[in-house]
Parts: sequence; structure tokens; C-alpha cells
Amino acid sequence: MTRLLFVGDIVGKPGRELVRRGLKAIVAHHQIDLVIANGENAAAGFGITPDLADDLFAYGVQVITGGNHTWDKKEIIPYLADQARILRPANFPAGTAGRGRVVVRATNGVAVAVINVMGRVFMTAIDDPFRVVLEQIELVRQEAQVIFVDFHAEATSEKVAMGWHLDGRVTAVVGTHTHVPTADARLLPQQTAYITDVGMTGPHDSVIGVDRHAILQRFLTGLPQRFETATENPRLNAVIIAADEVTPS
Ligand SMILES: [Fe+2]
Ligand SMILES: [Fe+2]
Repeated sequence: MTRLLFVGDIVGKPGRELVRRGLKAIVAHHQIDLVIANGENAAAGFGITPDLADDLFAYGVQVITGGNHTWDKKEIIPYLADQARILRPANFPAGTAGRGRVVVRATNGVAVAVINVMGRVFMTAIDDPFRVVLEQIELVRQEAQVIFVDFHAEATSEKVAMGWHLDGRVTAVVGTHTHVPTADARLLPQQTAYITDVGMTGPHDSVIGVDRHAILQRFLTGLPQRFETATENPRLNAVIIAADEVTPS
């Protein structure tokens, strides 16, 4: 049995502090073999820097996934090329810095593939995630006994569809990006673990991590506002997936 912990989008310092202070105890208590976390909002809500990625690794995160915000801090681009354990969505155009998959050893020795793809509904029109994810799976399926997919997408419909697309092909499909957890965690019929959105590790007295007053003013007035990361009520949203070491067919 391999136990994966996946931590939902880490937002700003409140999110990073939760991971710094709490992750080791969660890992020990739940006997976690591999920690994966989405880090696209680690730098005050916008992107991630090499130093912050190194911090997350030092706190015990073994693989960092990304999303649309991965690119917000330009200094991450050479780091993405050098550090294999930080991913960006695989379905960006060919030639984009970094990679969308990695195979790592969990602490119990099991080879785990982590794949990151991004949706296209209400998001940038990048390559087809449904096709690209199958290519990525094909590239790791000989090597990895467990395959984990972070599908970073806005529309619940696109994420649910991806769950069905990958049922029986991977160990788990988890959704990120909306920062609001969904109550639909389940095992699909072919034994793939699925949830539409894991939620956010950050300040929950906010609007998806951003200071709620500024967001509310934008809704009330229609005028642009300066967005700051909120600070209050930090909470860690995560899922644990317990998986048999069976190569998905
Ligand atoms: Fe996010
Ligand atoms: Fe996102």
C-alpha cells in the first residue's frame, strides 16, 4: 500500500506557514509515503519563486505541481528546466520550459508518476489535455506502479469528464485551481480515485485566497482593484489516497 498526500493550492505565506508547521506531523500521523502539493500560488498568490519551491521541498513536499499561475514569477522559468520535481501543465505548447510529468520513489520504494495537465474551458486555449494526458501516461506506465494526475481546471464539467476519461488508467485524478473543495471524493468504477477540487491551503477568510474587501468592491463597482493575499483563517485542504501497487492497465 502506498499512501499519497496531495495538498491543494498553497496560497501565499499563510499557506506556506501551514505546510511548514503542520506537514511533518500529518505525514507521520497518516504514514504518508509521498507528498505532492500544488504550488502555483505560493508567492503571495501569484506564481512561485525558486527560493519558495526550495522551502516547500525542505518542509517535506516531494513533488510540486502547477497551473495557470506557474508563470507569474519569471525567475521560475530556468528553475523549471533544472528541477525535475516541480511540474507545469504538460499540455502547454512544445518548447515551453519545464515538464509536465515526473516519476519519483515514494519513501516505501514504490515508483510513483505525477502528471500535471490543465483544462481549457474558461482558461487559456492550450493543447488538448485529454489527448496529452494519455501520451503522458503512456510514457510512464512501464516505469511507475502508481500514477497520480493533478488536473488544474476551472469547469467542474471538464474535470468530471477527465475523471471518466482516466478511470482505470491511473491511480488518482484530483482537481485543483478553483480553491474551493468539492464533496465528491469517490472511487470510480474502474478503481481510480477522483475528486473535482481539493481546495486551497491558505487564508479561508478571503475570496479564493485574495483579500475579500478588494474582491467585493470589484463585484460591487465593476472597477479594477489591487489584489492582495488575505491572511485570516489559514486552513490546509488536502486529500490522502491509499493505493495498491498495481500498474494501471
Ligand atoms: Fe490556484
Ligand atoms: Fe490556477
